[in-house]
Amino acid sequence: MNIILLGPPGAGKGTQARFLVEERGMVQLSTGDMLRAAKDSGTEMGKIVADVMARGALVTDDIVIGLIREQIETVKSNGFIFDGFPRTLAQADALNDLLAEEGETLDAVIEMEVDDEALVARITARSTCAGCGEVYNDNTKPVPADGICTNCGESKGFTRRADDNEESLKTRLMEYYKKTSPLIGYYYAKGQLTKVNGLGEMATVKADIATVLD
Ligand code: AP5
Ligand code: MG
Repeated sequence: MNIILLGPPGAGKGTQARFLVEERGMVQLSTGDMLRAAKDSGTEMGKIVADVMARGALVTDDIVIGLIREQIETVKSNGFIFDGFPRTLAQADALNDLLAEEGETLDAVIEMEVDDEALVARITARSTCAGCGEVYNDNTKPVPADGICTNCGESKGFTRRADDNEESLKTRLMEYYKKTSPLIGYYYAKGQLTKVNGLGEMATVKADIATVLD
């Protein structure tokens, strides 16, 4: 089963994708994580995208489609979770083609609905384990007082993303409404869209997603 988690910055896509990886053995394909890894390892592509990402703008379709193509063609899985991809209609069309080439289907598109005020509060409170990427939040899931990540058991520290500030978030939200939100209508028209309330407790959102998938 291949699914898309669709929603604005801070909707909880990464959080819910991790639950699905742990409990269903699916493979999370987060273009944001892939781009951050490229940036951190200092590749040519990483250097190109660093500034674009820090501002909160979208990276070009060619780059992200290339990243997804590589994963779909090489990784064997019993299901991909597309997290933060597609973000434009061109990316959605490319995903259709890539899945068709591999004889795969797109089985569900889950739109995680949240309101903008909650997003600002969530994002400015987020931190991530530098070791494994586990996501924490000052308000709802604080980093452990002993500094040891509850997921990987290591104490490599917790980092804030370069784009997790109010200024970049404004651009990220604008990009979402201008370029990504048309995908809601696109997948609705294809009969593939299901909406989930992303404002509930993490466990409630997780249960709602399970209801869609089972
Ligand atoms: P990306 O990394 O995809 O960022 P994003 O879409 O802005 O989304 P986030 O990762 O910020 O939010 P999330 O929905 O994963 O929320 P999370 O679970 O962490 O992209 C970053 C950048 O890369 C883009 O701006 C762009 O430049 C580039 N890029 C990436 N993909 C691209 C593409 N396809 N095309 C072009 N450019 C691309 O949760 C957020 C916080 O809330 C956490 O602290 C979490 O603990 C908390 N939380 C989660 N769920 C709940 C809940 N139910 N209740 C309370 N708190 C919660
Ligand atoms: Mg994310």
